Amino acid sequence: MAKKIVVIPGDGIGSEITGSAVEVLQKTAERFSLELEYEYKDAGGTAYDKFGTPLPEDTLEACKAADGVLFGAVGGDKWDSVEPALRPEKAILGLRKGLGLYANLRPVKVADTLAEYSPLKPALVSGVDLVIVRELVGGIYFGDKCESEDFNGTERAWDLENYSVPEVQRIARLAFETARLRSGRVTSVDKANVLATSRLWRRTVAETAKAYPDVELNNLYVDNCAMQLAVRPAQFDVIVTGNLFGDILSDEAAVIGGSIGMMPSASIGELTSLYEPIHGSAPDIAGKGIANPIGTILSGAMLLRYSLNEEAAAQAVEKAVEEALADGWRTADLWHEGFKKADTQTMTKAVIDHL
Ligand code: IPM
Ligand code: MG
Repeated sequence: MAKKIVVIPGDGIGSEITGSAVEVLQKTAERFSLELEYEYKDAGGTAYDKFGTPLPEDTLEACKAADGVLFGAVGGDKWDSVEPALRPEKAILGLRKGLGLYANLRPVKVADTLAEYSPLKPALVSGVDLVIVRELVGGIYFGDKCESEDFNGTERAWDLENYSVPEVQRIARLAFETARLRSGRVTSVDKANVLATSRLWRRTVAETAKAYPDVELNNLYVDNCAMQLAVRPAQFDVIVTGNLFGDILSDEAAVIGGSIGMMPSASIGELTSLYEPIHGSAPDIAGKGIANPIGTILSGAMLLRYSLNEEAAAQAVEKAVEEALADGWRTADLWHEGFKKADTQTMTKAVIDHL
């Protein structure tokens, strides 16, 4: 039976990069005799312009019924003045909540071909191979909030952070399972010296760890982790953390890998899972055909791996990307003298040629 993939291009460069990823998926499907069907849906600012909402019900329903969701990017200055509840970002937050995408996996592996793009010295990035496991549907992102209220005659706003034991157990288990398939080490990141939610987090992770005696567990405060990522990133295997800390640390970790344009992510849920590059919608280059499609192509590889259980196909895509880079192809964000300059289409073709 054909597997159904919902494609949500979103805003800005979204349609260009998801277009590339679908071409690569299609070629991979031919090579591995997979039957894939694509259904395109709106979300983000584009959906707001058309339907007055960043996440139409029909998009959410289609995702629920899909084997996997491929997501481009949302947002842009055009919607900066839209009221908070209808901002394009609400589409991704609504999908996470609506699909129960409780875990975000962001792998950072520094290929030798890309080490030169890292802001860190080559000796520091050599051997970096880590994955951030970020809790995605809880914490301060989804707690009660108040945009504005009167407080003793002054205006204030607030966001509430809460985590329940089952929420922490669920993400901790996924982190330990992930570590088992890698180097068997988990670093749990919190701010337990200050925050009550972090103290519950730390004790729940320690409790959950008892079922995984083969995995090594360490704890780090988030400020120290931010520093360790910059001074000795190769020490990490799996980093598990809450929603807000994970948001911040994953951008930091991504840049260690050289280019944010290269980084894929998987958001794992109980019904279905969603795959997206970690970069944004880059409105400044939208429509020019020069965006780097690799983060999205590699997100497609993660979709093959986690949603379709097609490990060999996933690896074929990852290898094709490595080979296209080894051939010297670089999109504008990474190009310099000595390389072959590729626009989005050329880069996509270079990957497909290696499949
Ligand atoms: C991310 C993004 C989102 C987040 C935004 C767009 C809401 O930064 O996926 O990391 O904060 O989670
Ligand atoms: Mg982020």
